[in-house]
Amino acid sequence: MTTQAATTQAVTTQAVTTQELDLMDPKTFGNGIPHDHFRRLRRSDRLIRGTDTDGESLWHLVRHRDVAAVSRDARTFSSSPTTMTSIRKVDPSPPIITFLDSPEHTRIRKLTFKAFAPARLAALQAPIRRIVDTLLAQARDKGTFDLAEDIALRLPFEVLLELLDIPHEDRDSMLGWARQTVNLGDEEYDGDGTAGQDSFQKIYEYLLDFARHRAEHPTDDCFSLLLDARLNGAGRLGLPDRLTADEVGLFASTLITAGSETTYCSVTGGVLALLDFPDQLDRLRADRSLLPSATNEVLRWVTPVTHFARRAVTDTEVAGQPIAEGERVVMWYSSANRDEEVFTDPDRFDVARTPNPHLSFGGGGPHVCIGNGLAVMELRQFLEGAVDLLPQLEITAPPVRPETNFMNSVKHLHMRFR
Ligand code: HEM
Repeated sequence: MTTQAATTQAVTTQAVTTQELDLMDPKTFGNGIPHDHFRRLRRSDRLIRGTDTDGESLWHLVRHRDVAAVSRDARTFSSSPTTMTSIRKVDPSPPIITFLDSPEHTRIRKLTFKAFAPARLAALQAPIRRIVDTLLAQARDKGTFDLAEDIALRLPFEVLLELLDIPHEDRDSMLGWARQTVNLGDEEYDGDGTAGQDSFQKIYEYLLDFARHRAEHPTDDCFSLLLDARLNGAGRLGLPDRLTADEVGLFASTLITAGSETTYCSVTGGVLALLDFPDQLDRLRADRSLLPSATNEVLRWVTPVTHFARRAVTDTEVAGQPIAEGERVVMWYSSANRDEEVFTDPDRFDVARTPNPHLSFGGGGPHVCIGNGLAVMELRQFLEGAVDLLPQLEITAPPVRPETNFMNSVKHLHMRFR
């Protein structure tokens, strides 16, 4: 039995004690997602109250149905001024798409969706496969490598540079800055806690300049497409019908953060899952038609983003618990994705799991991940490229996790070809 399977079978039935584990403390996630704790919380008939690192009181939502209900009720549960908690709780100005409510959110969402139109995504498939194959070939040449740094981190950034049509001569600087924007709060990446923000600022300034340049010199690239987009009916809402160059620059920099660390986690987590469950790896190798369901199962299993929060704009209730106007609720996707009310045998990694209504891209509603089609494509291409190499690989050191309660991340995964 694998270690993962062994731990997940050790189910206890103790009553929930809210003091038992602090979900806002990154140390609680030091050995991985505290699934046993979440399982006990899901069995409780009441919501759990917690406290954020700045003292703000929070309600923890751990059931699939509660997370989905709150995500879909954007009138009652606002994303403004932020959906982040603990060390990532910043209140950026100007606000990024994730932290806007309707109608401002609807305007940005509709105007930017063109970047992810089906034809644009289809055109990215071959470049993504090329990037995957190149990264895997480089790892093979090295013989020993760090899957997190050498592949999982590079893949999403290189894809994003491709999506945004960033000029080739600027890509190395972007990749250099980008490396430092992941694992915020972890000393190795974030230094004294400012390195990540400094690198992010450099990316933001570059993209802002680039968008302003494209506004003066349009071509047929992604920036020009976004600058050219028009929104019918925006005038009736009293909103501008087009994006300014600064809005395009801000959106592009949001993609760099939203689209990179998430995919990075799913690549490392997916490899760990397939190596932890060799029967599932064999099954996938024997039947490639399972690639789509395997991709979804990796997303459920890993749940890269552990949670986001919302703020009640009026007195309301969730699962019978009154929530006062102004109070925040934390939607634990990591727990919802193991909810035994929705998933049969949820602690089993099953590459053929169907249906698989995981909430890794959010619980539905207006903010559901705008890049989910791209993320699925990247992960699927990676699994397809890697699946036959995995039996030749062995892990040479225990995976190292960064200190975070926000991402289900592995910052080092040292491996070698046998
Ligand atoms: C495995 C990869 C990914 C995961 C797990 C993920 C997860 C999420 C989640 C949980 C949300 C929030 C939903 C909510 O608040 O209700 C979100 C929003 C978002 N994601 Fe992703 N994401 C991934 C990849 C990407 C990619 C590749 C991009 C773009 C290139 C992207 C761009 C965004 C943006 C812009 C938003 C904000 C959408 C809005 O507020 O309307 N994501 N994502």
